[in-house]
This record gives sequence, C-alpha cells and structure tokens, in this order.
Amino acid sequence: MADPKKIAPGNIDGDFFVDTTCISCGNCRDLAPENFAKLGGYYVISKQPQTKLELKQVIDALICCPLGSVGTTNPELKHEIAQSISRFPELIEKDVYYLGFNSAQSFGGKSYFIKHPDGNWMVDSPKYSPRLVKFIEEHGGLQNIFLTHRDDVAEAREYAQKFRAKRFIHQADLEAQKDAEIVFSGIEVFNPHLQFKIIPTPGHTMGHSMLLYDEKFLFSGDVFTSCTYTCDAIEAWPPFYCWQSWDEQTKSIARLLSFNFEYMLPSHGKRLYRTQNEMKEALKQCLSNCQNEKDPDPVTLARAIAFDEIALWAKQSGQNDYAKFALKKAESIRQKLNSEG
Ligand code: SF4
Ligand SMILES: [Fe+2]
Repeated sequence: MADPKKIAPGNIDGDFFVDTTCISCGNCRDLAPENFAKLGGYYVISKQPQTKLELKQVIDALICCPLGSVGTTNPELKHEIAQSISRFPELIEKDVYYLGFNSAQSFGGKSYFIKHPDGNWMVDSPKYSPRLVKFIEEHGGLQNIFLTHRDDVAEAREYAQKFRAKRFIHQADLEAQKDAEIVFSGIEVFNPHLQFKIIPTPGHTMGHSMLLYDEKFLFSGDVFTSCTYTCDAIEAWPPFYCWQSWDEQTKSIARLLSFNFEYMLPSHGKRLYRTQNEMKEALKQCLSNCQNEKDPDPVTLARAIAFDEIALWAKQSGQNDYAKFALKKAESIRQKLNSEG
C-alpha cells in the first residue's frame, strides 16, 4: 500500500498520490494518461481526476501499479477501489485480455491472456496472484506461456508449474528461464499453431521475439511505444532502452512489414488499434525514423548507470551471462566517456 508519509515530490494535492517507492515504469500513465506524468525519478499525479472516466482510469492505475505506489487519502474511495478490482483482467477484444496485476519483477510490464479452443496462452508474466489463478481456471486453464524476452519473465515459472503450461522463449534469452519447455532460435518465424506466429525480433535483447495471433494481435514486447499520449504514431523506444543493438532492432522492424496486424499490444506503452493498412503506414514511418536516428548507441553516464542497474538486477535473478554483458557495456561506455575527456 502506498504510504502518505512518503509522497513523491511534485504530486498535485488531492485524493490521490504516488509515493517514493515508484520505479518509474510508466504503467500508470498508460492507463490514466491525463492524470500521471513523469517528474524527475518518479511518476506523479499531475492532475487529480475530474471526471468519472478519469477517476476510473486513476483507480485502474492504482490497482495495476506493480509496487502499490499509487494511493489515496480519501477513505470513501476504498469501497470503489475494491469494486474496481473486478474489472481485471480486462477484455480487449474477442478473446484477448490485458491481465493487469503487473509485476515489479518485469519492471511493471504488461501481460496478456488469449482464450483459445486449442489451448490458452499467456504473454509475459504478471504477479502470481490468486485472483489471476482463479480467472485462468475459470477460463479453461493455461497451456502456453510466451515470453517476449528475458526482462519480462517475472513469475512465469509459478504459472507454468501451477497449470503445467509450456513456456516458449528464444534461445538467446534462455538464461532468464533455463527450464523453459520450448526453445526456438534464429530469426525465422516459428509456427506453434496455425493461428500463432512467433517472430524473432532481436535488438532490444538478443532473444527478443513477438507473438502474432490471428493476423490481428501483435504482442510486441519492449520495442514499440506510441509517440506521445495525444498522438497515435508508432515509435521505437529510444536508443537508451535498446540493450543489444539499435541496428538489429531496426532490421527486426523492417521484417515486421511483411506481417499484418491491427492491434499493437506492448509490454510498456499504450495499446494501439489501427486498420492493417494504417498500421503498415505507421510502421513504415517508424522504420524510417529509426534508420535516421542520429545517436543509435548513446554514450552517456546515465546509460552506463542503467547498465549497472541491469547487471545488478540480472545477478539477483540468477542471469549471470546477462549480468556480465551489462557490466561490459557499462564499462565500455565509461571508457568511451573517459577517452572523450
Ligand atoms: S505504475 Fe506505479 S511504479 Fe509504475 S510509474 Fe506508475 S506509480 Fe510508478
Ligand atoms: Fe525489456
């Protein structure tokens, strides 16, 4: 629960606040774009909710915050908050759900659920929560867990054990889930089912991959965001967040142009719906922007520190190769900074 004694600096006074446990994952802003904004190292309440819709969205953000960093000082809202929990998992369309209950272990990334007659799927892992376990049981269990990349495995193992589900992960990111049942490799498309395509998209990490369902839903992991919260263009996350290679990621985006889809469902960032043609045009523009990126491998102290933090997190989660890779990256950035004086 968020602590009113630890309110982060910059919150606008009112019923809701963000405290200093915030890890700046941005999920609150994805869910309530009018009311949250980044300020320094934290997201804060930039505007207290003023309409019913804003109130609903801020409560959604409160429920889905991976750290429980969003709180309220208004006891009268507690009943409403308890009721709102029943909104999750949230149906997106047809048989695809946003699960909510984002996990801090995957830096607050979103995870999804697909109900399918030949076996249900989870994409990346939320917190292991009794509410989600019950939801999955009521929807026919869980047969497949697709892991987009090493950063977002969270509690996938617990879900796999509980439901005897098969976990899919790319060989290059296997260290994050060594006992995964299905391991694919290379950059060729892997078809586990007629309606599901696994598309390796290296760049953000070496094993980053996307899942395309029914030529409609693209579960896009950590490559794309939408450029701002008022505009629907697609952008790749800035080079700062590209942990393997911007060039590789750009090639991956170019390969995506041969696929059709209407929904882009990212791990971090806003959900996007477009017609297939509109999506393709937006993707072409995104590709062109990536190809023209002037600073594809930023050499800054902030990025070296980001790699230090990844190394620490990777070590703590037993991903030793990833920890070594991140430390080496941090060291090489520092060397370049020193040589530039
Ligand atoms: S969802 Fe929670 S942890 Fe993530 S940015 Fe918002 S307040 Fe911070
Ligand atoms: Fe990631």
